[in-house]
Amino acid sequence: MAADDRRNGDSTNHNHRDPKKPRLSEFLTESDIRSEFAHHHTGVARVNNGSFGCCPSSVLDAQREWQLRFLRQPDEFYFNGLRRGLLASRAVISDLINADDVDEVSLVDNATTAAAIVLQRVGRCFSEGRYQKEDTVVMFHCAFQSVKKSIQAYVSRVGGSTVEVRLPFPVSSNDEIVSAFREGLKKGRANGRTVRLAIIDHITSMPCVLMPVRELVKVCREEGVEEVFVDAAHAIGSVKVDVKEIGADYYVSNLHKWFFCPPSIAFFYCKKRSSELDVHHPVVSHEFGNGLAIESAWIGTRDYSSQLVVPSVMEFVKRFEGGIDGIMERNHDEAVRMGLMLCSAWGTNLGSPPEMCVGMVMIGLPSKLCVESDDDAVKLRAYLRVHRSVEVPVYFLGLRDGEEGVKDKDSGVITAYVRISRQVYNETEDYERLRDAITELVKDQRTCQNLPPV
Ligand SMILES: Cc1ncc(COP(=O)(O)O)c(C=O)c1O
Repeated sequence: MAADDRRNGDSTNHNHRDPKKPRLSEFLTESDIRSEFAHHHTGVARVNNGSFGCCPSSVLDAQREWQLRFLRQPDEFYFNGLRRGLLASRAVISDLINADDVDEVSLVDNATTAAAIVLQRVGRCFSEGRYQKEDTVVMFHCAFQSVKKSIQAYVSRVGGSTVEVRLPFPVSSNDEIVSAFREGLKKGRANGRTVRLAIIDHITSMPCVLMPVRELVKVCREEGVEEVFVDAAHAIGSVKVDVKEIGADYYVSNLHKWFFCPPSIAFFYCKKRSSELDVHHPVVSHEFGNGLAIESAWIGTRDYSSQLVVPSVMEFVKRFEGGIDGIMERNHDEAVRMGLMLCSAWGTNLGSPPEMCVGMVMIGLPSKLCVESDDDAVKLRAYLRVHRSVEVPVYFLGLRDGEEGVKDKDSGVITAYVRISRQVYNETEDYERLRDAITELVKDQRTCQNLPPV
């Protein structure tokens, strides 16, 4: 599938930028890639890029240069380097996501910070009486835990209520997701309430699904939702992002997950002028009140280097055929290929069809492992890490009353999935190691109840 087909989770082709192609000889070879990631621990099958991302050594060198620039002459850096450098990073991102104006783009530490920005604003609206008590925030049940905790911290305690929509999983079509969400929004505005905020993941974390984000935002508009926040922590570098087409009010994506930046950096897109919206960085410093992008550019003395290397990352990705689009396409195709290989070895299924996957894919685990709780999933993950040197997240799928679940080749119900990731440094052997570890557990009649201790 072409990378463009996955733009915004739909099948529309909008190839508005043609990355300048280096001559073939300038592309990184396999051995160049190995040396870019030579700092990775050897002997570990890292099939979990999704949790923490990765950063190549050429970008780490660029980061070090920014750090030294500060340490060499801090005044010069503060007055002449920092603001200009951050603007250059914001300009690259603004172009990449098709924003109208660079002022719509702020740099923050991570998606968690962006959630705080949005939810603190919602909390203020409740506590200052602009929203009615019991007005709602609607989201899928698998919204990221830190986002749910932020709702608890900033919104629930000042009178807001929440509606959680169950994400169908395993899922076979976008329609299933869209109609479930529409129902949730109707619940959100029952009894005369207003849905003040909908939170939509572009790519959910656990379980991982590429969501039909554009359609979901459209449904929000049709159902009278006041504002939409897209948590796209995994999006940049996984799928094409066009914020104008998506049409949300707020959109955040980490750049340290799939865009090769060092930890940590995220961009936060805010459609309207942040000063009109009373949107602020949670850490208040000298620039409070000067617009979110400027507020975020100085939140006290700290290391800003991870936010300054975005132009260097662009140079890095151009050294792959097709640039970042080529990387995304190959990651997707290879993750799906490896996912299907695991399904066939274990006699299980994919959690979503290939067109609803990115460089991360969910694969059912054999029922014989008897994963019966979240704790079991954590135990299995720890076993794989400690005893088999495989880093992979495990998801427990609790079935609700009446749900039958999907069966594996042994006619047992699949109660857990692994989420594999594929990034440029991965090799087929990484997935084969995972395959063999699980196959051997089943062969040895091990279950989550009798795994070797870690
Ligand atoms: C959907 C989603 N939202 C938010 C986050 C939080 O990202 P961070 O820890 O970088 O703030 C994650 C992290 O994996 C995520 O998957």
